[in-house]
Amino acid sequence: MNWRLGTSVAVAAVALAWGVSATAQTPGATYVGNDTCATCHEEVVDQVAGTAHGSPAFGRLSAHGCESCHGPGSAHADDPDNEALRPSLAGKKAADKDAMCQSCHDGGKQFFWHGSMHQTRGVSCADCHSVHAPKSEVALLSSRNAMESCLSCHKNVRAELWKNSHHPIREGKIACADCHNPHGTQTAKLIAAESVNEMCYSCHAEKRGPFLWEHAPVRENCLNCHTPHGSNHIKLQKTSVPYICQQCHSNTRHPGTLYDNTRLPGPDAPQTGSNRIFNRACLDCHATIHGSNHPSSPYLGY
Ligand code: HEC
Ligand code: HEC
Ligand code: HEC
Ligand code: HEC
Ligand code: HEC
Ligand code: HEC
Ligand code: HEC
Ligand code: HEC
Ligand code: HEC
Ligand code: HEC
Repeated sequence: MNWRLGTSVAVAAVALAWGVSATAQTPGATYVGNDTCATCHEEVVDQVAGTAHGSPAFGRLSAHGCESCHGPGSAHADDPDNEALRPSLAGKKAADKDAMCQSCHDGGKQFFWHGSMHQTRGVSCADCHSVHAPKSEVALLSSRNAMESCLSCHKNVRAELWKNSHHPIREGKIACADCHNPHGTQTAKLIAAESVNEMCYSCHAEKRGPFLWEHAPVRENCLNCHTPHGSNHIKLQKTSVPYICQQCHSNTRHPGTLYDNTRLPGPDAPQTGSNRIFNRACLDCHATIHGSNHPSSPYLGY
């Protein structure tokens, strides 16, 4: 997977480029260091010290602490009441703030940020990461749980998680980021794999096969029959059996109708007309719907 390649933190030289452009924003300002900032912003300095951005790894990339991101602050420290000199980032355009973050984070999972759905729709790094909060359990500089951050914008997905059959996301067994890379991917819908199926196989490995008899729609895309987040039909199905089967199998030898008067082959076949919505309907006989290794029958389980 390409987005795993590269390092998550780029070289210090790139970080310095931001420092240069920040200097341009506050003409004549120089770096004064965290100790000076701390004389007035002690609380923020303590907070940042407890995050990854207070770590030795950060120091190796940039020695300027607060000013690595906010730019040189001497002018502001000398005249804190002058609003024009305050090195504020909150009001800056998303693109400018993101460029600052990407001066260090332009590889690894952030490699495909540019052109990603979130970037093009104006979602900023700081919308998901709260840069000054302590390190949280989800490896986010965010005081909020990652799922809650996602659901604050994606309300339709929140609704899906409450359906009868759902991936155990709200139970905390898997996370949005197990399937999506919110920073951008080469696969549509921010899927963190080469295809939807490759992503599904990463946890449901037995569905990969190999099978002697494949079921074409399974190989093509699991989402032919399943929804990813939640469904009110069992097993995350888009609709229930037999209707889900009939969407494709309408003109085959037997299944076009749910009831018929023909006899089915085999020693146990009923002597009366068949009823294909009895019990598990089609799955009563076609039980290996994802693929079969039965040596002599291509009919998925019979
Ligand atoms: C002499 C005191 C003093 C020093 C030193 C100082 N600041 Fe400030 N800073 C202030 C005051 C006062 C404000 C106005 C808003 C407030 O009260 O937080 C402010 C505002 C800010 C803001 C904008 C916040 C906003 O809400 O607009 C940022 C960002 C900031 N300072 C960063 C820094 C950084 C980084 C340093 C070190 C380079 C620094 N400050 C040094 C006193 C100081
Ligand atoms: C990794 C980059 C980074 C570092 C390091 C950092 N900040 Fe910030 N800071 C930001 C960003 C980004 C925002 C704006 C967040 C937003 O958009 O809501 C911000 C916001 C602030 C604010 C208030 C909001 C505003 O107007 O910008 C203050 C005050 C502040 N920072 C001070 C500091 C101080 C003091 C330090 C050093 C202890 C520091 N920051 C270190 C990135 C950083
Ligand atoms: C000067 C370089 C630099 C800049 C600029 C920078 N970071 Fe970082 N960031 C780092 C380093 C170094 C780490 C720690 C990496 C490690 O320990 O493996 C880190 C870690 C992180 C982490 C992981 C935190 C964790 O708890 O594991 C997040 C999230 C993050 N940064 C987001 C941001 C955001 C958002 C911005 C912009 C507001 C930003 N960074 C700007 C260097 C930087
Ligand atoms: C839509 C929400 C969202 C946005 C926007 C976002 N992130 Fe993240 N970020 C996450 C989540 C969730 C994680 C934790 C899951 C993971 O590690 O994949 C994370 C993890 C990280 C990490 C630590 C994991 C790693 O190795 O990369 C860094 C660093 C980071 N983000 C930086 C950034 C930067 C820089 C930006 C802007 C260019 C950004 N993020 C934009 C949600 C977001
Ligand atoms: C600040 C709001 C916001 C947050 C927070 C947010 N998103 Fe999004 N996301 C959007 C917008 C806007 C789009 C564009 C499509 C749309 O309007 O639904 C989008 C699109 C997506 C898409 C579809 C991408 C595509 O190519 O169609 C996925 C998947 C997604 N987000 C996942 C996440 C995940 C996972 C998180 C949490 C880590 C998250 N989002 C957090 C605003 C957000
Ligand atoms: C088990 C894997 C998986 C998990 C976990 C997951 N998703 Fe998805 N998500 C998908 C797949 C697959 C798609 C559809 C991709 C396609 O249509 O090609 C998708 C589509 C989306 C979309 C775009 C379409 C839509 O429904 O609006 C959004 C937004 C989204 N997911 C957000 C989230 C959020 C937020 C979370 C966490 C609460 C999450 N996803 C958890 C697999 C997952
Ligand atoms: C990160 C791991 C992960 C990924 C990726 C994943 N799943 Fe799951 N899936 C799970 C877990 C965990 C369960 C719950 C299993 C349990 O409770 O026994 C589950 C359950 C299911 C169920 C049964 C639901 C029920 O109600 O019993 C179906 C169907 C399913 N997944 C399909 C998919 C499909 C299709 C994909 C790809 C779009 C996918 N999964 C991707 C982890 C994953
Ligand atoms: C042709 C429709 C169809 C396609 C395509 C499909 N499934 Fe299923 N899947 C089903 C049906 C029907 C069930 C319910 C089976 C049952 O109740 O025994 C099911 C059940 C499941 C289950 C839960 C029960 C079990 O067998 O573990 C998982 C997990 C699952 N599917 C994963 C996948 C994955 C991964 C893919 C893609 C590789 C996929 N499915 C593609 C129809 C489909
Ligand atoms: C998205 C379309 C689609 C769906 C939904 C679907 N199938 Fe299929 N199915 C196919 C295709 C395509 C083939 C391969 C036909 C061929 O090779 O001639 C196939 C093959 C089969 C075969 C083997 C037939 C043979 O001649 O080898 C059986 C049995 C079967 N499907 C049963 C089911 C059942 C039961 C369901 C519902 C759980 C289902 N299918 C849902 C498209 C679908
Ligand atoms: C009582 C057992 C049974 C049930 C229930 C059943 N089938 Fe079949 N099916 C078979 C047998 C046996 C064959 C192979 C012999 C044949 O061709 O009739 C077969 C063959 C098939 C074939 C491949 C042959 C063809 O007609 O092209 C498809 C597709 C199929 N079934 C789909 C379905 C669907 C969809 C349902 C549910 C509406 C279903 N079956 C219900 C036993 C069953």
